[in-house]
Amino acid sequence: MKKNKSSKNWVIQQHRDQYFKQAKSSGFRSRSAYKLLELNKKFKFFSKCKTVIDLGSYPGGWSQVLKKNLKNCKILSVDIKKMEKIEGVDFLCCDFREEESKDKILKKLNNKADLLISDMAADTTGNKDLDCIRTNALCAEVIEFSTFVIKDSGVVISKLFNGADFLDVKNLAHNKFHKVNFYKPESSRDYSKETYIHCAGIKTL
Ligand SMILES: C[S@@+](CC[C@H](N)C(=O)[O-])C[C@H]1O[C@@H](n2cnc3c(N)ncnc32)[C@H](O)[C@@H]1O
Repeated sequence: MKKNKSSKNWVIQQHRDQYFKQAKSSGFRSRSAYKLLELNKKFKFFSKCKTVIDLGSYPGGWSQVLKKNLKNCKILSVDIKKMEKIEGVDFLCCDFREEESKDKILKKLNNKADLLISDMAADTTGNKDLDCIRTNALCAEVIEFSTFVIKDSGVVISKLFNGADFLDVKNLAHNKFHKVNFYKPESSRDYSKETYIHCAGIKTL
């Protein structure tokens, strides 16, 4: 049966509400928390993590999931917006793209990280193509940075959009990592071009 626009909107709304309500009742600060749980179910990167960096952490759903699932793990969260404190989570308020911020992140860590996760998305401008390019540029920067900050056996998870520059980011990831996969969690809105890249095992020369 072909769905008309209003029934499609109804389905979208229900989908959105399901995760929104679930997040509220579970005490998660964002519905995004479920995306990270699904990503971990798929790729199982939580096991044996001792140091994790969460980029684009505000309001804190992913950091809450990390805190809940990783025992004795150093968690460093980063966002331009100030995130309300989460016990046991270290927070840096800065623009990840600045060199100074990258230096600060490196200084905060005693050892290289096992896991780098990024849910960063550029502010929306109303121009979908431009938003896509800007968010995918952030993803490319995360992949470049990851090779300095994670262990050779480490894992990267990063949001990107299936649109302009997607192939460039994919090629960059293949140049840097042995394993590259893509996964769109069910809790990610169907109509969104958002997906996540999973990279594992840095290629060393
Ligand atoms: C979708 S939200 C993240 C939601 C978060 N994962 C959660 O579970 O609550 C994207 C975040 O990326 C942040 N962001 C975007 N560009 C950034 C940058 N250059 N540096 C740091 N944070 C950035 C935004 O401020 C925003 O809070």
